[in-house]
Amino acid sequence: MSPANRSASGQADSASAVRVGVLVVSDRSSRGEREDRGGPAVLAYLSAALACPWQAVSRVVPDEADVVRATLVELVDEAGCSLVITTGGTGPAPRDVTPEATVAVLDKELPGFGEAMRAVSLPRVPTAVLSRQTAGTRGRALILNLPGSPRAVAECLDAVFAAVPDCIDLVGGPRLETVPDRVKAYRPHD
Ligand code: MTE
Repeated sequence: MSPANRSASGQADSASAVRVGVLVVSDRSSRGEREDRGGPAVLAYLSAALACPWQAVSRVVPDEADVVRATLVELVDEAGCSLVITTGGTGPAPRDVTPEATVAVLDKELPGFGEAMRAVSLPRVPTAVLSRQTAGTRGRALILNLPGSPRAVAECLDAVFAAVPDCIDLVGGPRLETVPDRVKAYRPHD
């Protein structure tokens, strides 16, 4: 695609662009009481890492399990997202419900994503162990949880993003191309 068809963020306008859901789960951000920084960090990461045309579908919702579930279903089944990245609500606090809401809508859980993200995060921040972040497939999409901390976004995505294109290939989704200098996609099934 020509540079003219891309927005400043690297996103594309074309109908064939891969749709990526960015779901911010936060009571305070959903009420407008706190500026969300996790969502923009995810968009910045995707802009640097994706080499194919893509388009973000962004949502901000409160920490309510039924709302998170319904929004994940809407992003995959109706908005046609092939990848959905959530931020926030993965911890131990009573209102943190993102992982269980995610598991409720998955066809297959892929616990290795959460394990890998915690493993790289732990040497940097001891409280990384508090995140219950997980991932899995729904239809032809991959849903991936991240903690709410903006610093966590690149740390966690760097740990797993090389496997994201192959995962989406395996469930019949569109082919994601990455910028090799940023993320080298590993495709053993090609
Ligand atoms: N992982 C990374 N890489 N960086 C972080 O700053 N914060 C931790 C953890 N994982 C963090 C991290 C903290 S303090 C918490 S409470 C849990 O993620 C859950 O955060 P969440 O409830 O905002 O999802």
